[in-house]
Amino acid sequence: MVNVLVVGSGGREHALGWKMAQSCLVDKVFHAPGNGGTIENIPINPEEIDKLMQFAIKHDCFTVVGPEAPLSKGIVDKFTENKLAIFGPTQKASQLESSKIWAKQFMQRNGIPTAPFGIFDDANKAKEYVQSLNYPVVIKADGLAAGKGVIVCDDKKDALSAIDEMLVKNSFGSAGSSIVIEKRIDGIEASYIALCDGQTAIPMATSQDHKRIFDNDKGPNTGGMGAYSPTGVITDVLAQKIQKEIIEKTISSMKREGIPFKGFLYAGIMVKDGEPFVLEYNARMGDPECQPIMMRMDSDLYEYLLASSQGKLESLPKISWKKETAVCVVLASNGYPDSYPKNEKISGLENIDDANTMVFHAGTKQEGDDVLTNGGRVLGVTALGTTLESAISNAYESVGKIKWKNKYCRMDIGKKGLAFL
Ligand code: GLY
Repeated sequence: MVNVLVVGSGGREHALGWKMAQSCLVDKVFHAPGNGGTIENIPINPEEIDKLMQFAIKHDCFTVVGPEAPLSKGIVDKFTENKLAIFGPTQKASQLESSKIWAKQFMQRNGIPTAPFGIFDDANKAKEYVQSLNYPVVIKADGLAAGKGVIVCDDKKDALSAIDEMLVKNSFGSAGSSIVIEKRIDGIEASYIALCDGQTAIPMATSQDHKRIFDNDKGPNTGGMGAYSPTGVITDVLAQKIQKEIIEKTISSMKREGIPFKGFLYAGIMVKDGEPFVLEYNARMGDPECQPIMMRMDSDLYEYLLASSQGKLESLPKISWKKETAVCVVLASNGYPDSYPKNEKISGLENIDDANTMVFHAGTKQEGDDVLTNGGRVLGVTALGTTLESAISNAYESVGKIKWKNKYCRMDIGKKGLAFL
């Protein structure tokens, strides 16, 4: 039996820990720092790599890294140098997410389909470039910007203002000191995530996120307001194409360039006229995509993550998935993604007693007997159903039972998937 240390505090990490705990090979699951829904919490933040290493040594842990920040700081490199077992990509490999410029150039030199783009660190040159473009365009800060570094510009005015924010006012700090300007491909977005070990890539179940804060995909971008799995946007034919022309090409090109990628490779895909284009890579599981994907996974997650870290995925069978659909509705604090209140008491959690529903915690904390809000995205109510429609209805039935003063959620999670059944 092994202990597992899950690094991070979001809904994704709660779902990963919940699934790892189901393995008959796993003893304890620790969360660093965890949240109000995770049990064995240890007060170490994801970027305190030395402290995490000491904990992993003391408790003989296999470590699973949820968020991007510690990956980009080299947590996997440091653990590996110290002969500690850890799941995730190295610092160099996680550049697929931590540098948008690096990722775009990587795709360009390896023939991976993505939108045409320009790279700038000079505001005047960037402003000159956007004069002659067809709109909309997307302007991206090169570095990690907590999900806020991507601005969709509908016209030249928006583009000039985004350039000013990033290159003149430095609103994104060093993350925005270089930018990518790319054509916005008009299509349908979906998430394709594969588990990789440096040379083999096993597909996870497909999913679709809901990034905007308001119903019908209106309002500003968020970390994700809900997701469902599987998605009909990615048909079997399209999945095979993405697997071959994007995922396997990415993995073999990374290997050839001497930067083998181990971990979850997340490709944000735009589908236009049946053709997939990479919008962005993430070097980790999606949040909230992870929640419905974990609800549907029948295989032992620990076995797969261990095999990924050891380069042995080829020896494992395909992952087995429940036939049901899973829908995750994110309950947020009103005001998110800008400012929002904290420390509000959540009630009704005890009323969710359906075996096909899990409430994954994110921005929560336990205080005495109470669970309080502690972040923008607070809970991910995730339900299975025999169809997408029934999964939506099951999830919203539970959503209605949970209350706090400033609860907010979208009421249309999964609805856009109904058109693809
Ligand atoms: N749901 C989008 C992300 O994890 O970045």
